[in-house]
Amino acid sequence: MDPLNVKGYFEKAQVVCDYARAVEEVGLWNSEKIVFGQCFSPDMRILELGCGAGRIAHGLCGLGFKNVTATDFSESMIESARAIAAKYEDPTVFEVQDATALPYDDESFDGAIFGFNGLMQIPRRANRRKAVKKIFDILKKGSFFVFTTHDREAARNRDYWEAESKQWLTRSQHPLLDDFGDLWYAGAHGNIFIHSPVKDEVREDLEAAGFRVDFCRLRSKISEEPEAVLEFSDDCIFWAARKPD
Ligand SMILES: C[S@@+](CC[C@H](N)C(=O)[O-])C[C@H]1O[C@@H](n2cnc3c(N)ncnc32)[C@H](O)[C@@H]1O
Repeated sequence: MDPLNVKGYFEKAQVVCDYARAVEEVGLWNSEKIVFGQCFSPDMRILELGCGAGRIAHGLCGLGFKNVTATDFSESMIESARAIAAKYEDPTVFEVQDATALPYDDESFDGAIFGFNGLMQIPRRANRRKAVKKIFDILKKGSFFVFTTHDREAARNRDYWEAESKQWLTRSQHPLLDDFGDLWYAGAHGNIFIHSPVKDEVREDLEAAGFRVDFCRLRSKISEEPEAVLEFSDDCIFWAARKPD
């Protein structure tokens, strides 16, 4: 999968518009508030990856975080995020950055977030691992990296992945897919790429970078969510990984 296909989707005006609407109409999930509260405090310097139009960064601002750098590789998302932030005098610094090529200094952040499954929208495991390693490097010791993923082992997905594994065995999977677990499916505004991992794979990638997994927990086990959140996003796993002291 060419990363430009993924970027192209997130540059579309209708997609940016949906994510911009989510800043004001969805806001932080209850589960995000709980997990961020466990891992971060408002005095910390936080780096957000794949921030979209700023739903999470804006929510953090509402919780008193004043030192957040929020990044996305979609110029249109960042433009929209800056416009929304200006309206609310939100001090978040928004930057166009690709999560696989971050320019920040080692040990320069107290926490990192890659919310709403954005890490899994990076095609190819080697590239996801590269991003995770760089995130490890830019974090200070003892800091958390929080992100979410889908769960390929979830019972509701079993039939789909059983059928898909037969396609891979006969090498008749979609030609744009790189890793088993990849999805390239039609959404309302075009095709979307996402990798659906198993938990062991995510654990291996975190540990290869040097992280220790503090917890991985299903969102629905952390908190109930209002209808607006359930419509915006399906259930996912929250990961909190810590850089050892
Ligand atoms: C599912 S959206 C989530 C947006 C936002 N975090 C939210 O929850 O509303 C994923 C975001 O990750 C961004 N993204 C995907 N791959 C990226 C990469 N390699 N570098 C930076 N951003 C990326 C996309 O542009 C998109 O804005």
